[in-house]
Amino acid sequence: MNNKIIQLLKNATTFLSGEEISGHFKISRSAIWKHMQELRRQGYAIEGSPHLGYVLKKVPDKLLPQEIQYQLPTKYIGKEIIYSEKTESTMNVAFQKGMGGAREGLVVIAETQTKGRGRVGREWISPKGKGIYLSMILRPRIAPRDIAKITLLSAVAVCETIRQSTALDAKIKWPNDILVKDKKVAGCLTELSAEMDSVRFVVAGVGINVNTPADKLPAHASSLKIESGKEISRVELTKIFFVSYERWYELMKVKGFLSVMDQWRDLTSTLGRKIRITDQNGSVEGKAVDLDESGGLVIVTDEGDIIHRMSGDVVMI
Ligand code: BTN
Repeated sequence: MNNKIIQLLKNATTFLSGEEISGHFKISRSAIWKHMQELRRQGYAIEGSPHLGYVLKKVPDKLLPQEIQYQLPTKYIGKEIIYSEKTESTMNVAFQKGMGGAREGLVVIAETQTKGRGRVGREWISPKGKGIYLSMILRPRIAPRDIAKITLLSAVAVCETIRQSTALDAKIKWPNDILVKDKKVAGCLTELSAEMDSVRFVVAGVGINVNTPADKLPAHASSLKIESGKEISRVELTKIFFVSYERWYELMKVKGFLSVMDQWRDLTSTLGRKIRITDQNGSVEGKAVDLDESGGLVIVTDEGDIIHRMSGDVVMI
């Protein structure tokens, strides 16, 4: 109901009387008053006048479900959102929901995380109300060994979203970093629940430094606001991201992973570069030449050997 009331107030050009609203929804005026109080608690500035009724003055800068879902043109991604002001990690909440049978497309969003995490157990700093911190449930029909495909798909969707909504030349660094001018502005994390040869569900996590100030970011990181010089609407960015994600995900389901890989190749700054890749087995230097069919990185070493890596940290050398 809160959602519907906000939509009605948004579409109104002037005050709407309590009578008009209660007539519209066929609920009592005291029920309307309670909803208005609840919406004010969420941060909406709603002016109320005993004679004129209610008018919406300001929408809060929060990733509220009703804001994101307003005219959201997706079929399933973001159609159900679990929102909180603060959580340990949206990955944990989404994982629990996945275990409980949550549907594909459910998204968990928080304004801040107390234990946000990145790859290989690194911390993901999540300043309140500044970035986008979300995890979504997917149920792709893929084998666990193909999970890297989802990470690459996430990176394509984030990169495309940033390019569409800012004039920034965002690039993907294999496998999951989104860079602007060689500084990390976003990252993707993929976790899964699987049986031997099938994936039960995937949690695709994304963190984007949107309006984060420099003093709240780790070294080598930046935010879209710092790089573009403009405050960016997190709600609009989230909507564009959902649309982009669903489009690539559908394309992957219908046509296979090749189209996603082609787009990834177009958006990456890793291929063709001399790199050092470090994983649990040590470091290798060489030229990053391509992706393999599972999304792994193909490297030609200085000795001329061709090697494949499914994970690791890449530095350009
Ligand atoms: C990385 O670059 O290493 C991945 C970073 C992923 C961060 C996001 S923020 C939302 C979700 N919740 C987490 O704890 N991590 C991911």
